[in-house]
Amino acid sequence: RTVYVNGQYLPEQEATVSIFDRGFLFADGVYEVTSVLGGKLVDFDGHVARLERSLGEMEMAAPADRDELLEIHRELVRLNEIEDGMVYLQVTRGAPGDRDFAYPAEETDPTLVLFTQSKPGLAKSPVAKKGIRVVTIPDERWGRRDIKTVQLLYPSMGKMMALKAGCDDAWMVEDGQVTEGTSNNAYIVKDGVIITRHLSNEILSGITRAAVLRFAREAQMRVEERGFTPEEAKAADEAFVTSATTFVMPVVEIDGVAVGDGRPGSVATRLREIYLEESL
Ligand code: PDD
Repeated sequence: RTVYVNGQYLPEQEATVSIFDRGFLFADGVYEVTSVLGGKLVDFDGHVARLERSLGEMEMAAPADRDELLEIHRELVRLNEIEDGMVYLQVTRGAPGDRDFAYPAEETDPTLVLFTQSKPGLAKSPVAKKGIRVVTIPDERWGRRDIKTVQLLYPSMGKMMALKAGCDDAWMVEDGQVTEGTSNNAYIVKDGVIITRHLSNEILSGITRAAVLRFAREAQMRVEERGFTPEEAKAADEAFVTSATTFVMPVVEIDGVAVGDGRPGSVATRLREIYLEESL
């Protein structure tokens, strides 16, 4: 695989980053995941806009402008012959040379890393036909979840809690309400109304979420942006999650309780179809 690091395209074995990199020492960095379908980037503009916002919130300078970032994405897709899959981008506050809690001086260059992952047949995932099972866990992440940082230890622990419970993923709960999934936004459907938590510092503003809500409204579906409890979710007609890597993925079970008839619901299935049609 050919990867990108700080201006160079290299075989992955030759790509290196300093042990003093603040991404490594402090999780001081941000990232984006953009999916590739049929060789094309999905929602690139949304991802790069959110990247710029994350960088701004972290008081970090952009390592390259939008056109340069688009060019690097396209070049990696081309060099690695990615038909379906994703491009991962990470920017950290660079490697100042010493470990120091204070941010380094302005002249320290950020570290920009991108790589691809190939996932042939991504859009035709058989998992989407069956749906996934989730467990609820307390949300023990930090308070700025609107920034897409590489600080992913708790989501990773949450994923392991889900797998140990024989499930696929976890939905995190705070003050009695679902925030989001470990790496996706969470939704329920009740009496035809699509319900998903409102945007705030408590969740990531998903690029897929924005697109799916737009398509839902265009299709005259009703949308309510508000929190919901795990109990409300278990009594809902449908549930699903969205992310750049799963698009729209039905949720058929929550804490061992079947949602609706325990099969992917019609709203989730329709939104998945619309999203994929619009992205291809
Ligand atoms: N995760 N919420 C969280 C906590 C996420 O990590 C993600 C994305 C989302 C969905 O955002 P989007 O629709 O823009 O992908 C919501 C990516 C896919 C990841 O960490 O791999």
